[in-house]
Amino acid sequence: MKKVITYGTYDLLHYGHIKLLERAKELGDYLIVGVTSDDYDKTRGKINNKQNLMERVVAVKATGIADEVIAEEYEGQKIDDIRRYGVDIFTVGSDWEGKFDYLKEYCQVVYLPRTEGVSSTEIRAEKNKLTIGLIGDSESDLTSLKKFTAEIAYVNGIHATCSNTRIDELEQITDYDKLLERVDSVYVVSHPRDHYSHVKRALQKGKHVLCETPIALERTQCEELFSLAKRAQCVLMEAAKTAYTTAFERLVLVAKTGKIGEVLDIDATCTRRRSIQNYSEKDIMRNWNTITEWGPLGLLPIFLILGCEYKDIRIVSRLLKNSKDYDIYTKIDLLYDKATASVKVAKGAKSEGELIITGTEGYIYVPAPWWKTDYFEVRFENQTNNRRYFYQLEGEGIRYEIVAFSKAIEAGHGDFYVSEKVSKAIAGVMEEYYKGTKVRKI
Ligand code: CTP
Repeated sequence: MKKVITYGTYDLLHYGHIKLLERAKELGDYLIVGVTSDDYDKTRGKINNKQNLMERVVAVKATGIADEVIAEEYEGQKIDDIRRYGVDIFTVGSDWEGKFDYLKEYCQVVYLPRTEGVSSTEIRAEKNKLTIGLIGDSESDLTSLKKFTAEIAYVNGIHATCSNTRIDELEQITDYDKLLERVDSVYVVSHPRDHYSHVKRALQKGKHVLCETPIALERTQCEELFSLAKRAQCVLMEAAKTAYTTAFERLVLVAKTGKIGEVLDIDATCTRRRSIQNYSEKDIMRNWNTITEWGPLGLLPIFLILGCEYKDIRIVSRLLKNSKDYDIYTKIDLLYDKATASVKVAKGAKSEGELIITGTEGYIYVPAPWWKTDYFEVRFENQTNNRRYFYQLEGEGIRYEIVAFSKAIEAGHGDFYVSEKVSKAIAGVMEEYYKGTKVRKI
C-alpha cells in the first residue's frame, strides 16, 4: 500500500484545498493529512486563522478524501511522521516548491500545481473588510500610530484608511466627526485626557473602538463608555498589547493554575527614561505622564492574576518641577485580602524592568523588558524543578491585539484578555492618582 502525506492549515476550506487533497490521494492508496495546530501556526507567523484546529480538522474530515487526519504541532514533525507512518510520498502545493527537498532523504517529494485564484488569505480579506481610522495628536502618539500602521499590514481584512495626524500612506482628516463618517472603527491613541471624549463620540456614531490603555481617567467614565458600547452594539477594547502576547497570556495561566502555589505578591517594574527634566509647559501638556503611560501596563498582571478587588491602595509619586500632575516616577502599592502587589513605573528614572510573581511553592520570573517578552521562567527552591517557557513574539503583540479586535467585531462580542472589569479597575487607579487622597508626593 502506497502511503501519501500532505500538510496545511486548511482555514476556511476552499476549492483549492479540495483539488490539492484529491490529487494527493491519487498519488497513492492511503492519504494522511496533517493540519497545523494553532500554536504551531503562531510560531510560523500565521496569526489570522479564522478557524481553530478542531474546526479545520472537522472540515478536512468532512471532505471524505483523507484516510487519516493528524495535527502538526512542531518544527521537524514531518520527518517524524514520515518515519512513524511509513510514508512513501510527501506532497504539497507548488507554492512550497523546493522548500521540502530535505525530505527526499526519507521519501519521494512531489509538488503539485497550486490552483490559481483562490486562497484562505483572500477569503479572509473578503469576509471581513473593515476600515479603521487612527486618532492621535502629539509626537509620542505618532510613534504608536506608525507602529500600528506597520503592524496592521499583517492582519487580514482590516485596513487603516485615514488619520487625524500626518502619517504617510494615510489620508489626513483633521475634523474628527468627518473622519468618523469615513470608517467602521477607530484606534485611539490621543492624550489620555481626551480618550473619554474621543471614545464616546466614536461609539455614539456606532463605530468600534480600540483605545490605548487607559480607556478613561475615571472609573465612572469608563463604565459609561462600556454601557454605551453595549447599547450601540459596538466593540470597545482596551489596547494593552502585552496582554495579547503568547508568553504573557501563558504566564497568567500558569500563575492561575497554582503551579507556584498560592500567589502572595506581584511586583512589576516598567521604566523608559526620557529627557523630560527640561520639558516646557507645552511639552507637559502634550506628553503622557508616567502613571498613564506605564501604570496600566504594570497593573495588568496584578488585576489579571489577583483580581480587581483590592482592599487598599497607596500611591507615591515624584513630580516634575513646576508640574501639578506630571509624575516622573510612581510607585503603586495594592493590598489584597491575602496578597500584596506593587508597580514601579518611571519616565524620569531607570530600573530593571522585570516582573516577579511570588507564590507559596515557587515564583515566576520574567526578565526585562517583561512587557515585550517571549519567555518566562518558573523557579523553585529545588532548582532541578525549574522550567523555562519560550514563545514566538512578533510586533510586540500589536498584531495579535488587532487580530483580537477584528475577530471580536466579526463575532459581535469581545472575549478579551483585558476584560471590561480590568479596564474599569485600571481607570479606577488613574482616578485615585488624579483625586490625590491616596497619593503622597515626594
Ligand atoms: N493549495 C493549493 N491551491 C490553493 C491554495 C492552497 O493547492 N489555491 C494547497 C497548498 O499548496 C497546500 C494546501 O493547499 O499544499 C494547504 O494550503 P494552506 O496554506 O492551508 O492554504 P492557503 O489558501 O494557501 O492559505 P493562506 O492563504 O493562509 O496561506
